[in-house]
Order: sequence, then C-alpha cells, then structure tokens
Amino acid sequence: MELGVIGILGAGQVGTAVARQALKAGYRVKIATAKPAAEIALLAEIITPGAEAVDAAEAAAADLVVAAVPLHKYRTLRPDLLAGRTVVDAMNYWAQTDGVIADFDDERGSSEVIQEFLAGARLVKSLNHIGYRELEVDAREPGSADRRALALASDDDDAKAVVAGFIDRLGYDPIDAGPLSAGRVFQPGTTIFNAAHTAKQLRGLLAEANEPARP
Ligand SMILES: NC(=O)c1ccc[n+]([C@@H]2O[C@H](COP(=O)([O-])OP(=O)(O)OC[C@H]3O[C@@H](n4cnc5c(N)ncnc54)[C@H](OP(=O)(O)O)[C@@H]3O)[C@@H](O)[C@H]2O)c1
Repeated sequence: MELGVIGILGAGQVGTAVARQALKAGYRVKIATAKPAAEIALLAEIITPGAEAVDAAEAAAADLVVAAVPLHKYRTLRPDLLAGRTVVDAMNYWAQTDGVIADFDDERGSSEVIQEFLAGARLVKSLNHIGYRELEVDAREPGSADRRALALASDDDDAKAVVAGFIDRLGYDPIDAGPLSAGRVFQPGTTIFNAAHTAKQLRGLLAEANEPARP
C-alpha cells in the first residue's frame, strides 16, 4: 500500500523528529497534540516546517499514525478514533519519568498494554529504540553498509508490512521481530534498546533473545 499521509500524535521530541524525517522522505505530515490545532500551528511552522498542525482526530485519520505521547498519558489517546488504523507505537515505559504505573508493572510489554487499550487499532511497535536526535542523523540510503536497523513487532502482519515500508523510507532497515509480545526484547533495559545495530546484528540479537533458555 502506498502511504500518502502520516499522522503524528504528539509534538514533543519524538513526534517532531519523526515529522521532519517523514517530510524529508516525501510524505505529507499531519501533527497533533491533545490541544486544539490552532495552539500548535506556530510551533509546527517553526519546528516542523511543511507539516500541518491538526486536531488529534484528523491526525488519527491519516494512512499511518505514529503515537508518540508520554506513556503516562496513554489513556488520553482515543480508541474510537484509532480503531481500524495502523498505529506505530513509538512509546516506552520509563518509571523515572512516567512515574510507576501499575498497568505496566507486569511481565507484559508496554505495547501489549497499549494494544489492549486501543483494542481496534492495528498496532506495530517500532521507532521506540532510537533516540529522537539520532533519528535524523543515522538515516542512510538502502544498501549502505552502516545502515541502522529498527525492529518491528505486531500481531497484524499486513500492518507490519506497511510500517516496514515506512521505516525503510525513513532511512532504516526494518526487521521483523515477530508478534507484539516480541517487543519485550527491544524495550528500555534490553541489549537491543541500548545501542545501534545493523540488520545482521539486530537479527542475531533478536534470535538470541527469543532462544528458549537452556536447562
Ligand atoms: N526521547 C526519546 O529519544 C525517545 C525515543 C523513542 C521513544 N520515546 C518515547 O516516545 C514517547 C514520547 O516522548 P517525547 O520525548 O517525544 O515526549 P514529550 O517531548 O513530552 O512530548 C509529548 C507530546 O505528546 C503530546 N500529547 C500528550 N497527550 C496527547 C494526546 N492524547 N494526543 C496527542 N498528543 C498528545 C504532548 O502535547 P500536549 O500535552 O501539549 O497535548 C507533547 O507534544 C515517550 O513514551 C517516550 O518514552 C522517546
């Protein structure tokens, strides 16, 4: 599927970096916060020139939606608006900044909790294990020896394929990590989260992380 419009929920560090990178890749970008569009119009003009400041409902109606809001605010996302949409979950649980949130305090990955909340959305975990500053400088053309790889996890294979194409156009090798639960191995605190990897390295680390423990 050819994507035209990328909707971004969150105009903070990650949302604006994704917006600029997506604009560079030739996408039309709509960016929103929880506030009315008019309140972020000036910010968008300066920080993400070329992106349209819109209300969250309009961003949620885009071909592909990137959710980049602080995780402690995840319940302000709108499951009704995101039902049926392909949504990239770029969010991480950081107890240091989010505070301890009981919802994320079990063995499930944060994206599994988000998927349960956004029950109708086609959620793909990705873009969470790259710093917002790196996103714009580490991008490389396909085939570059030092091209960085980003993992994707989802229970929806079609949505995962769509997001893989997006990641590739942003300048990264998309690597299928498996179902949404596999996102646990590239959350904060993991080897994958803590460094940059090429496709070969990332595939190796994913295989290692998913290997059953030997007795
Ligand atoms: N920092 C990194 O390098 C990095 C990298 C990968 C992933 N992450 C993760 O990405 C997420 C966002 O991080 P950040 O550093 O970009 O946060 P941030 O700078 O605090 O920005 C968050 C943005 O989300 C908006 N927002 C809040 N509720 C919203 C809603 N319901 N709908 C739309 N927008 C909403 C906020 O605007 P208003 O509150 O004004 O509405 C703000 O613009 C976090 O989960 C973080 O862990 C961070």
